[in-house]
Amino acid sequence: MKLTQIASSLALAGTMTFAGSLAAEELLADFHVEMNGGCESCHVNDGVPSEDFVVENEQCASCHGAADELEGEHHAIHAEVLMCSDCHNPHELNVGQKPSCDNCHDDGRSAP
Ligand code: HEC
Ligand code: HEC
Ligand code: HEC
Ligand code: HEC
Repeated sequence: MKLTQIASSLALAGTMTFAGSLAAEELLADFHVEMNGGCESCHVNDGVPSEDFVVENEQCASCHGAADELEGEHHAIHAEVLMCSDCHNPHELNVGQKPSCDNCHDDGRSAP
């Protein structure tokens, strides 16, 4: 992504904090659409979803950092085995909703 886009999405993110807290029921995808200007921010091929969602997940990492750079050991642990959207499906989770471990582990573990 271009630096100007990063700068404008970061500037918008600052102004979104208040609106975001009012719209807690908003899907993560819609939140990103409004913040960054469209479906294309993740579906970089003119807004059309890819077959395997690899390019979409590369966009997550290009803005937020790769799994081994993010805070929380649950990120680094899964760096080789999962994509961001395996846990943070942006069309299923709302803003502020934490991904659950139960979808894949059945021993009651949770993020530290
Ligand atoms: C924050 C990034 C992001 C944004 C913004 C986003 N999407 Fe997605 N979208 C994804 C990811 C990641 C998946 C794959 C989810 C999964 O693993 O099932 C997906 C899946 C989809 C799918 C399902 C495709 C399939 O083959 O199952 C459709 C349709 C879709 N998105 C449409 C849209 C539209 C339309 C918009 C804009 C209104 C949008 N998306 C905005 C990340 C995003
Ligand atoms: C194993 C599931 C899992 C995977 C895979 C995962 N995350 Fe997370 N992520 C979580 C959980 C759980 C939290 C909440 C942790 C907490 O608040 O202590 C979180 C928190 C976050 C946050 C902070 C959200 C907030 O509430 O401020 C961001 C940003 C984030 N993840 C981005 C990513 C990106 C980008 C990727 C892919 C490189 C990724 N995550 C992969 C589970 C996952
Ligand atoms: C164009 C840059 C960009 C892309 C691409 C992007 N994000 Fe974000 N995302 C942001 C910004 C900016 C925020 C708001 C500030 C923050 O919370 O870090 C945010 C917020 C979030 C949050 C925290 C929302 C909350 O609960 O408060 C999560 C989780 C997240 N993004 C995950 C993802 C995932 C997963 C993907 C890929 C499917 C993705 N992002 C793609 C820029 C991006
Ligand atoms: C989308 C599926 C999925 C989710 C959700 C998920 N994991 Fe995992 N996790 C895996 C896979 C796949 C592995 C690697 C195979 C294995 O070792 O079981 C793994 C391995 C691990 C490991 C290392 C091996 C072990 O079992 O101790 C830890 C620790 C772990 N996950 C913790 C978590 C935590 C904490 C969460 C919730 C924040 C979580 N996982 C959510 C799929 C998932």
